[in-house]
Amino acid sequence: MKKITIAIDGYSSTGKSTVAKQLADHLGYVYVDSGAMYRAVTLYAMQHDIISKNHFDTLKLKQSLGSIDLKFKKEYVWSKAHIFLNEQDVEDKIRNLEVSEFVSPIATIHEVRKKLVAQQQQMGLEKGVVMDGRDIGTVVFPNAELKIFMNASAQERAQRRYKELLERSENIQFDEVLKNIQERDHIDTTRQDSPLVKAADAIEIDNSEMNLEDQFHTVLQLAKDRIAGR
Ligand code: DC
Repeated sequence: MKKITIAIDGYSSTGKSTVAKQLADHLGYVYVDSGAMYRAVTLYAMQHDIISKNHFDTLKLKQSLGSIDLKFKKEYVWSKAHIFLNEQDVEDKIRNLEVSEFVSPIATIHEVRKKLVAQQQQMGLEKGVVMDGRDIGTVVFPNAELKIFMNASAQERAQRRYKELLERSENIQFDEVLKNIQERDHIDTTRQDSPLVKAADAIEIDNSEMNLEDQFHTVLQLAKDRIAGR
């Protein structure tokens, strides 16, 4: 069967990765969480005194890029793959709110994006890939056969994220989560290099009122159509 490239972009916490993972497993495709790569670089920067609340050493970050090795490793299915930073499994560590606070500034740095985009393009060379992020349909795979742009209200997204963080037992206030989402939206959409925008040929799905099953079936149908060349 013909293999295609599927790009899923959208704002933070729109549920992109949930749908992308389901779709990849269903189709037997590779799943790549590009946000995890930006998060892992952020974790490295936090661990090496490159970024903190009151300083950001962009020169040191650029000079360190050669020492940052990222890999996804899966045991059974791609949806359960973990990201490894210099051979260490950091899948869990990159999900906390502290990393979320620093990741958007890290993702504005051109050299960071250049490195990660090149690796992402390499992972998609053979097609049969579902990748989610902010610039997948616009920069990483501008020729992807299927591009989805997911959206939902900031309030709804913050609710979902808040629930997720509570389940991980992070001690957190809803307002803090909402503020983080709004700040990230702002930085992600206004940065100079590859800002978050809907690709002209992307299909927009607002999932504020949709359940997971409906989202999955909508996207699966679109994928089947593209695979069949429709
Ligand atoms: O999808 P996420 O929330 O895990 O992504 C974390 C951050 O990484 C997000 O705020 C912006 C950045 N990012 C990006 O700039 N480009 C991508 N393709 C993916 C993520």
